[in-house]
Amino acid sequence: MTRAPVRHHAPPAPRVTSPAKLVRGAGRNYPPTFLHNLPPGQAAKEMVHVSATPVLALRGVSKRFGAVQALTDVTLEIHAGEVVALVGDNGAGKSTLVKTIAGVHPIDEGVIEWEGKAVSVNKPQDAQSLGIATVYQDLALCDNIDVVGNLFLGRELKKFGVLDEVEMERRARDLLTTLSIRIPSVRIPIASLSGGQRQTVAIARSMLGEPKLVILDEPTAALGVEQTAQVLDLVERLRERGHAVILISHNMADVKAVADKVAVLRLGRNNGVFEVKSTSQEEIISAITGATDNAVTRRAARTNAEVKK
Ligand SMILES: Nc1ncnc2c1ncn2[C@@H]1O[C@H](COP(=O)(O)OP(=O)(O)OP(=O)(O)O)[C@@H](O)[C@H]1O
Ligand SMILES: [Mg+2]
Repeated sequence: MTRAPVRHHAPPAPRVTSPAKLVRGAGRNYPPTFLHNLPPGQAAKEMVHVSATPVLALRGVSKRFGAVQALTDVTLEIHAGEVVALVGDNGAGKSTLVKTIAGVHPIDEGVIEWEGKAVSVNKPQDAQSLGIATVYQDLALCDNIDVVGNLFLGRELKKFGVLDEVEMERRARDLLTTLSIRIPSVRIPIASLSGGQRQTVAIARSMLGEPKLVILDEPTAALGVEQTAQVLDLVERLRERGHAVILISHNMADVKAVADKVAVLRLGRNNGVFEVKSTSQEEIISAITGATDNAVTRRAARTNAEVKK
């Protein structure tokens, strides 16, 4: 059985907003400093109506690299307080899509809308000033510098022309506490943290700019079970606080655990947007591979049958 994908075409269908969604969208109306002002969990308690306008919408986006058509007519919508997983096989165009949003690769055709208005995103600063933060897979943390130093790398706080270590340390602690990130000390070098702890520090760093949209490129790819759980917990906390999150992942378990929607790319085109709750793993895999009958789905069906025996 193949479920009809939920596709977004103009004019968009009225968004059905569940009570849970109302809560999740709470952060959209907060002032930029809400992350530091609200105690953990409070954002989730505020009841604010979510407007139907997505925080980010891509409409008909295409991108070509020489002879390679990396993206063709791609549409994607993401609302505040929503986690959208972006999945697809190797070379499907996920990283390219993320880089167009992040301003690394300007689009050739189509429209990028931010909070309902068409915008130009031609360089990374354009994305940053809109409120888009991207955590790339390589993390780009400095191993020999401590957690505080990494959090404020490139945006150090100064007082009378010298580094204000006391204030940076205070804000670092506040930020980590707000996001319920537990690390032994903010003054130990990144090298002595686990992979999961490093990933959470990298995500925390992206939060300093108070973005509305956070893009995480394969945040759990190199992590073990426990560390993956830490990162997925953090993604949930970002959602509770009203951030929109785009999560690139090859891991269906992570997608099922944390995403609200899953957007499938195949050969640079949309191949469906699914509500995670009402879609099986096999259906998502079918959309990724472009076939209902293939090695992956046959194996999944066999394993399921064996489990049921
Ligand atoms: N800078 C570039 N120059 C030329 N071609 C590129 C460039 N970046 C990506 N491509 C091509 O665009 C297509 C999509 O690549 P992309 O990296 O977006 O895929 P992906 O979905 O992220 O794959 P993976 O899961 O392997 O990371 C591929 O055919 C790739 O070779
Ligand atoms: Mg990629």
